[in-house]
Formats: sequence, structure tokens, C-alpha cells
Amino acid sequence: MQLDIPILSKRTNGDIENHTKITTSSGNGKKVYIETYGCQMNVNDSEIVAGILQKSGYGVTDRIENSDVILLNTCSVRDNAEQKIDKRLQHLRHYRKKNSKLVVGILGCMAERLRGQLMGKQDLVSIVVGPDEYRRVPELIDQALGGEQGIAVKLSRVETYDDIIPLRTEGISAWLSIMRGCDKFCTYCVVPYTRGRERSKPFDIVIKEIVQLHEQGFKEVTLLGQNVNSYIDMDKKVDFAKLLDECAKAVPTMRIRYTTSHPYDMTDELIETMAKHKNICNYIHLPVQSGSDKILKLMNRHYTIEHYIERMNLIKKHIPNVALSTDIISGFPTETEEDHQQTLDLMKIVRYDGAYMFNYSPRSKTKSYMMVDDVPEDVKKRRLNEIIELQNQIAAEINLSERGLIHEVLVEGPSKKNKLQWQGRTDTNKVVIFDNPEGNYKTGDLINCTINNSTSATLFGSVI
Ligand code: SAH
Ligand code: SF4
Ligand code: F3S
Repeated sequence: MQLDIPILSKRTNGDIENHTKITTSSGNGKKVYIETYGCQMNVNDSEIVAGILQKSGYGVTDRIENSDVILLNTCSVRDNAEQKIDKRLQHLRHYRKKNSKLVVGILGCMAERLRGQLMGKQDLVSIVVGPDEYRRVPELIDQALGGEQGIAVKLSRVETYDDIIPLRTEGISAWLSIMRGCDKFCTYCVVPYTRGRERSKPFDIVIKEIVQLHEQGFKEVTLLGQNVNSYIDMDKKVDFAKLLDECAKAVPTMRIRYTTSHPYDMTDELIETMAKHKNICNYIHLPVQSGSDKILKLMNRHYTIEHYIERMNLIKKHIPNVALSTDIISGFPTETEEDHQQTLDLMKIVRYDGAYMFNYSPRSKTKSYMMVDDVPEDVKKRRLNEIIELQNQIAAEINLSERGLIHEVLVEGPSKKNKLQWQGRTDTNKVVIFDNPEGNYKTGDLINCTINNSTSATLFGSVI
């Protein structure tokens, strides 16, 4: 069996596109093309779906033109994420015109949320499958190939796909979902409705999978969940700090990352565990959403800015070289100039290395949908621009201060802009560009680079 599985996935949060390109020549069945949108969990879910399909004899292809089935794994987090899928569906009509037997399916959060509405597009969409029903994808494709429309959108309290081997990219970095769903119910967020209740993968299975990833040659693993730090294996009494500790010990030469964590569950033990292990990366993504306590309360975030800053200070104390990133929502209902200013102030206090910044997008079913979306569009836009500008300035300043420092860099491959230059990633999750004219450094190597130059998004280094 020959596997050729490139996945071009950006590290994203929310509605940025990930084109999952998985190819396998195994199986004599029809060929399925999967395109992935949304968060990293969706990227891993596409790998899970590909694994399920392969087991059932389907081929998985990275060439849309050659496919018999096109599956879009979708995101609902903001309105523009869903609009993007609507546009893509229009585009897929061209493929359907060329091949009237082509099966088009919608997977993921939009399938869960818009179910009937998507089923209404009978002339194009044959399959609608929510995040907890991926085991049924082969059966639904079989039916669709026979001309029947099919839907599976039941949410589960137990499904973690822990017996499924995801069909992963041959790269150096692997995603590993350790929990699914979310019980936090932030008032703006669709995830608890599209992904259902929180549930964790059993501890021994996570350890088994991470060891397997190491044996397969992966150099880095990211533990995934909407809320990884509420991970709990009740039987074995293992929480996220303990899980991380055991993972670090099980694969001491592998880099370990995790995302996303919630400030409410950022325990002392978790911070101490990160500080204790060299192979747990010095990088934390801790979404704050707003700098205003009033807005945080309306968002049902369960923490105050005082608590958040106290956590950040403890993190910086225990992990001196840590890089921090966050998510910010601008223009939540009732947000005043003062609330907005508090967000800018918080950014100046924490000084994030990176941030994902969004305008508030009302989502039906959520609690805040009942609130009046009262911040005018132009004010939302202006505030978001101020947030982005400040963040770019801070990131540029931080990266400037990296000049002269030496970083251990995990080599990823040729840089996208210039083939003679290569790129890798620091343990703080920053991209470093370096010269590799003779091809001395290979994907997966760990090298040391001195940083000579930088922008707000990238470091430039020379290998020592
Ligand atoms: N579970 C993660 C992330 C969930 S979605 C967490 O809690 O951190 C990723 C980000 O999208 C969120 O952190 C939030 O900043 C943003 N987001 C979620 N719903 C949104 C909405 N309705 N409008 C704008 N941004 C939203
Ligand atoms: Fe959404 Fe909040 Fe859950 Fe994150 S913690 S997925 S923002 S409900
Ligand atoms: Fe989007 Fe669903 Fe992830 S809404 S952000 S794909 S959990």
C-alpha cells in the first residue's frame, strides 16, 4: 500500500480555510476528495473521516477533478465562515455539470447547524453529516451513489473515535484530538450546539496514540480540543496537567503542543507541568475575548481580567521565554468605547506574540443572539482595526527584541516565497526563515538559528 498524503494546513482558528489533501491508492472503490474549513479539530476530523473511508475500501484523493465524491468539512463559528461554504457550493455546481453522478456532501459544524436547510439543496447536496456521525459516512456515500439523499446529525455523549486510525499527512507534525465538544456555553458561541457535550478520550488510548505517532516518525504533536484543559479521565483520575505530564514522559524527544485552553481551567499544576518538561513547547494560546469584565460576564466566560492577568503573570514567572497568543472578539453587544479601551489596555499589559482578532458575529441559537447587536458596523470595524494595528505593533516589537537570540528550530520545508530559503518553527511557535542553498537541512531536523531580522509575523535567522 502506497501512501502519499500531503495536508496543506495552516495553523488557524475559526474560519480560515484548510485544504486537506489526503491521497491513498489503496482500495478499488470510488475516490473521495475532502476539503477542510475551520479549526484544527476539523483538520483532524477530516483525517478521521479519511481513515474511516479507507477502512471501507474507498480511495481518498487530493485531485478534485478525479473524484467521485466531494466532501466539504465545514465551520459555523462566524457568518463569513458559512458564506464561504455557500460560495464554494455554487462553484461545485460546475463539477456537477461535468459529472452528473458526482456526490457532494457537507460534514462538520455547518451540517450539524443547518441540517434541513442543506438537505433542501437536493439538486446539489446528497449527504449531510454532523461531527459525531462520521462512522456513517461510507454507508451514506453508498446510498448517495445509488441516488438517495442521506442525513446523520445526532450528537453523542461518548463518541471520541478512539478506535479509528486517522489517515494523516506524512509531515512531521500531527494533530491528536484528546477531547470533543464543549460545556462552557460562552453566550456568543455555536460550538456547544454543533459539537455537543464535552467528553474525553481515555488516558491509556491517548498515550498509546502518541507513542505510535512517535514511532511513525512524527516530530511534533498538538493535543486538540475546544477546551483541552477541561480534559478528564474519570476512571483513571487523570486531568489535563497529569495527561500532559505523562505524554511528555512517554515521548521525551517529541515536541508537544496543545490548543485551545480556557483561562478558567488554567491551573497551577498545568503551568508547573509545562515548566517542568523541555519537550512541552513554551507557547500558550489563551483566548481572552475582551478586556472588559462587564463584557466577559455577558459572554459567560467565568473569569475576570484580574484573574486572567494573574494567570498570565504566573505563566511568565514559571516559563520565562513563553510566547503567548489569544483570541479577541470586538463589538460584542453593549460594548462601549471604554470597554474597547480596556481590551487595548489588556493587550498592552500582556503583550501577546500573536492574536486572532474577529468582529462579533451573531449566531442563531446562542444566548447573545437574543441581545441587540447594537455596535454599528463602522464602529465595529474601526475598533477591530485599532486592535489589529496595536497587535501588529506589539508583535513587531517583540520579534525585534529576538534579534541576536538563538532558537532551536524544527525544520518544516522550503519557504513558500523563495525555494532556496527554508522555514521552520521555534518552540514558541514562530516561523523562522533561513538559507538552505545546498539542502543540508532536511524536513524534521532540529537546528539552531541565530535571529538576524524580523517582521511582526516572521523571524529571519542563520543556521549555526
Ligand atoms: N474553544 C476555543 C475556541 C473556539 S472558536 C476557545 O474557547 O478558546 C475560536 C474563536 O472564535 C473564539 O475564541 C472566539 O474568539 C471566536 N468566536 C467564536 N464565536 C464567535 C462569534 N459569534 N463571533 C465572533 N467571533 C467568535
Ligand atoms: Fe465556544 Fe466558549 Fe466553548 Fe470556546 S469555550 S468553544 S468559545 S463555548
Ligand atoms: Fe468552526 Fe466547528 Fe471548529 S464551528 S471553529 S469548525 S468546532
